[in-house]
Amino acid sequence: MTTATSPHAFWLAGREATGDDTLDVTSPWDGRVVGSISLPTADQVEEAVAAAAAVADEFSATPAHVRAAALDHVTARVRERSEEIATLISSENGKPMKWARGEVGRCVSVFRWAADEARRFNSGEAQRLDSDAGGTGRLAYTRRFPFGPVLGIAPFNFPLNLCAHKVAPALAVGTPIILKPAPATPLSGLLIGELLAETDLPAGSWSVLPVPNDRMPELVQDERLPIISFTGSAPVGWSILDSAPRKRVTLELGGNGAAIVLGDYSSEDDLDWAAQRIATFSNYQAGQSCISVQRVIADSSVYDRLVPRIVTAVEALRTGDPADPATDVGPLVSEDAAKRVESWVEEAVSGGAKLLAGGKREGATYAPTVLEDVGPDTQIGCEEVFGPVMSLTKVEGEDEAFAVANNSKYGLQAGLFTHDIQAAFRAHRSLEMGGVIVGDVPSYRADQMPYGGAKQSGVGREGVRFAMEDYTYERVMVLTGLDL
Ligand code: SIN
Repeated sequence: MTTATSPHAFWLAGREATGDDTLDVTSPWDGRVVGSISLPTADQVEEAVAAAAAVADEFSATPAHVRAAALDHVTARVRERSEEIATLISSENGKPMKWARGEVGRCVSVFRWAADEARRFNSGEAQRLDSDAGGTGRLAYTRRFPFGPVLGIAPFNFPLNLCAHKVAPALAVGTPIILKPAPATPLSGLLIGELLAETDLPAGSWSVLPVPNDRMPELVQDERLPIISFTGSAPVGWSILDSAPRKRVTLELGGNGAAIVLGDYSSEDDLDWAAQRIATFSNYQAGQSCISVQRVIADSSVYDRLVPRIVTAVEALRTGDPADPATDVGPLVSEDAAKRVESWVEEAVSGGAKLLAGGKREGATYAPTVLEDVGPDTQIGCEEVFGPVMSLTKVEGEDEAFAVANNSKYGLQAGLFTHDIQAAFRAHRSLEMGGVIVGDVPSYRADQMPYGGAKQSGVGREGVRFAMEDYTYERVMVLTGLDL
């Protein structure tokens, strides 16, 4: 049992364990140590993988009600402990409490959806085969079965909910999972382990192991873990896929979310709403979301009225202590991350971009920043900023707006401010993205809907049922000699 002074244990095949080494988890806001965790040894990692492989068949055969009950339990416990969990997220990640609370609510929804899906998933599908003479009396019955144990690798920006998106679908389909939380924010993932330990899921069906990044290549290669679900940076994600090309790999990588404002979105109320949403969701979690607003692409007919509204809304955001309920924008995950954002803004400005707001750093906190005329070849022009920075671009008409939005190596989500339903369908057809959000920013995500990218933003989909499909494959059984 972990005490106030001892490091947090990790979860090895469903039970608490400690290793030889420890890691301090610090607050990005004030650098205080918010917890210390124990790190698993190589032998302990091996033990967890062996246990996952050993239990895979048994777990896949567990009745749906057993898996659903465990998921219901976690749902209820996250809800019961929501304030404490939000504080934990905020402490280790630096996310303001208002956003941490939102993340906890979403985690409740993920586990609840997984429980529901566990109950209805995989009833199977029958297909008659007697449409040709050779199939007379034959019926195909198809159900989905897991590929095998999952290696889930989660990022720091949603330390609870993106762990939930790995774990809950795996448990819903009855496949074991080894979860590796991010080194900067492991406490929320370990807390999911604490709640799973209260269930009757079989030993080995889940482990939460804060394996140091430099020891991950071996785990990625391990053939007993045929599925890898990774959320994080594009370079790391693609290198995982390249190093394990025969595995089933889901990658949720970067984006540079575009908010497109078309010319018909022009009333005072329209522009107030668009500006408010853009300002908020360029800067929520200090811009550390793959679908935060990084690019604003606005029609020339509304541009000059939209820009001052955005600047006013951005300047009204309160930056500061994440524990303060009034804070909108907290620190980035580290001072190094904030320094990188600072250097990218400086590069853009020295290349001719105009700074309309922000542009200042204090420790790990970077002020919400608005840029205009960003050069296309600068880092901000073509990479994912992952910080509280947006760039504004004026375009002439819908075709140019869609072309500019598509002019990126990424394709995660776009937001489209329009009232024109035909324009919405044209955007849905034209934008090479995993999602188009009409009437709002790209940052909207409901956890049950398919989520993932086109182009370099990734492969595969999350969103509970969609991850369940990614973790499983169709296996057909042909019945013969039937009186159909
Ligand atoms: C991400 O940053 O990819 C996750 C965004 C979200 O879940 O809202």
